[in-house]
Amino acid sequence: MPKLITVFLIAILPHWSLFGKVEAGGETTLQNIGSRQKISLDGLWQAIIDPLENGLYNHSLQERTNGYFKNQKMESPRDLIEYDFDNSYQLNVPGDWNTQMEKLYLYEGTIWYKRSFKYRTGDKKKVLLYFEGVNYRCKVYLNGEYLGDHVGGFTPFQFDVSGKLKEDNFLILKVDNTRRRDGVPTVNFDWWNYGGITRSAWLVELPGTYIHDYSLRLKKGSKNIIEGMVALKGNTPPGQEVEVRIDELNQAVSLRSGKDGFAYFEIAADISYWSPGNPKLYQVAISTGEDSISDHVGFKTIETRGSQVYLNDAPVFLRGISIHEEAPFGAGRVTSKEQCRTLLRWAKELGCNYIRLAHYPHNEFMVREAERLGLLIWSEIPVYWTISYENPGTYENAESQLLAMIHRDKNRVGIGLWSVANETPMTADRLKFLKKLIRTARTTDDSRLITAALNSQRGGNGEIVIDDPLGEYIDVIGINTYCGWYGKRPAQCRDIVWKNTYDKPMIVSEMGAGALQGLHGGKDERWTEEYQAEVYRCNLDMIKKIDFLGGLSPWILMDFRSPRRNLGRIQNHFNRKGLVSENGIKKEAFYVLKDFYKELEDAGKQKKMEKENYPKTGG
Ligand code: GCU
Repeated sequence: MPKLITVFLIAILPHWSLFGKVEAGGETTLQNIGSRQKISLDGLWQAIIDPLENGLYNHSLQERTNGYFKNQKMESPRDLIEYDFDNSYQLNVPGDWNTQMEKLYLYEGTIWYKRSFKYRTGDKKKVLLYFEGVNYRCKVYLNGEYLGDHVGGFTPFQFDVSGKLKEDNFLILKVDNTRRRDGVPTVNFDWWNYGGITRSAWLVELPGTYIHDYSLRLKKGSKNIIEGMVALKGNTPPGQEVEVRIDELNQAVSLRSGKDGFAYFEIAADISYWSPGNPKLYQVAISTGEDSISDHVGFKTIETRGSQVYLNDAPVFLRGISIHEEAPFGAGRVTSKEQCRTLLRWAKELGCNYIRLAHYPHNEFMVREAERLGLLIWSEIPVYWTISYENPGTYENAESQLLAMIHRDKNRVGIGLWSVANETPMTADRLKFLKKLIRTARTTDDSRLITAALNSQRGGNGEIVIDDPLGEYIDVIGINTYCGWYGKRPAQCRDIVWKNTYDKPMIVSEMGAGALQGLHGGKDERWTEEYQAEVYRCNLDMIKKIDFLGGLSPWILMDFRSPRRNLGRIQNHFNRKGLVSENGIKKEAFYVLKDFYKELEDAGKQKKMEKENYPKTGG
């Protein structure tokens, strides 16, 4: 019988902000959608392609009151209605539209999605309409009523539709993937602008009082105390009973919620820490009155000591690879668990213990599956290249995406690093923008490392010095360096000496070269597999000499679409830096990196063995 520990309400200290007290502007989304009672809205939706946004604006660009979101039908032969969802296109949800219809391959603009569904209106449940991701911005309408907007293509959002559902309903979204100068990302980025309801949509049914959010983590500075919170919503008079159980630890706590619906607890237990070598997860059951959820949660510490990354008090070297959310076999944006498993299997075959999920938050299953497989995760928001750093609205957008990413994945022990940026220009506006974003990340979650991928640094006479001023504010310095591809010949990479202004770990967050899988030739012939493999060999020789290197995540696991890649015969709208082709065929460089990681892992094991087998001598 688990030990019952009486729990006391802990004074709400500022550092509790991780626990959902920081609500980014609006509502935070429901935690752990996978564990909820829900109705899927996936499947075929009807679609109207609307490049002039005619479904929302009239010819004078005034918003219509009777736009496409009304789903009007001709009631008499004299009626003039110039749209009809029922006699229009169809698109699969989840899925990008670009790879579903040839005419939409390069389409950027608005597409109206509509689906009808029946709902048994008898229950008095709370019902949320929950989207896991829609790229890039959307307006949502239920039964002709405007519910709201969402901006940002890679984080979940929801609307409370309790009391708005009928026996027969129609749900309409105006989805717009137009790139905007003030967007996050902005108008230029090196991946395909996959538009649409690219992740699953749900109707989530909840009881009157429900578990909205929760968090469990190792208490800062402690090795065996789990601190946690549960946030109730709906009808939440103070003193609601909440139980948290971790049966494997033989622990159960009974809590009483405060007047704000929050309850906090601490559990002392002998914990097996999560690590790539021991991806230990505990089943957690949380229940209150009418609601209960279960999750799998792990515990770790991650920190830096000088230029070394430490995981659970032991130095770790991050053997990684970068991954875009691009589906294998050319299927566009990832939409299935199987596609996630394929990508992660390739990463494991490489010998990775770490992955960089670039350049935006990936779907929740990818994160959960990576941690289950023992892959430490670098998770990132698309503050990429030349966004509008001087624009307050752009900052709000970036911060909102950061908070939504942290909120959704705060219980994912596999996440070790939050990245706030990729290859951003060294301007005063950018530094001010990112310092503020980093402050927000730290106050929201002080249990993970903060990082950013920086441009290649200032070089000269064979030296490269890391001196980007942003380095002062992040914990781990990501460096994207393309010696042998965007500069210098491969052999020259071996002679480069790196210097670090900061006593912090550097991660080579990107390195690599392009190759068309199956194209063979001399190792000095660009685009051949031999050339890519040679660039890897030379760069790996270079990085072996960097004594402040904490890890690497070469660019990139698999070839991915980008409209910036127009070299016919070779690229055909694919960035060819993948170690695997989009058809799942490994290139020569895959094995160069795999051998390097094997060598590292064996050396690591050797060092550990020596340490264990040869007891410390005195002094
Ligand atoms: C940059 C950028 C990537 C891009 C890569 C490339 O470093 O971060 O998003 O795809 O270089 O040029 O292939």
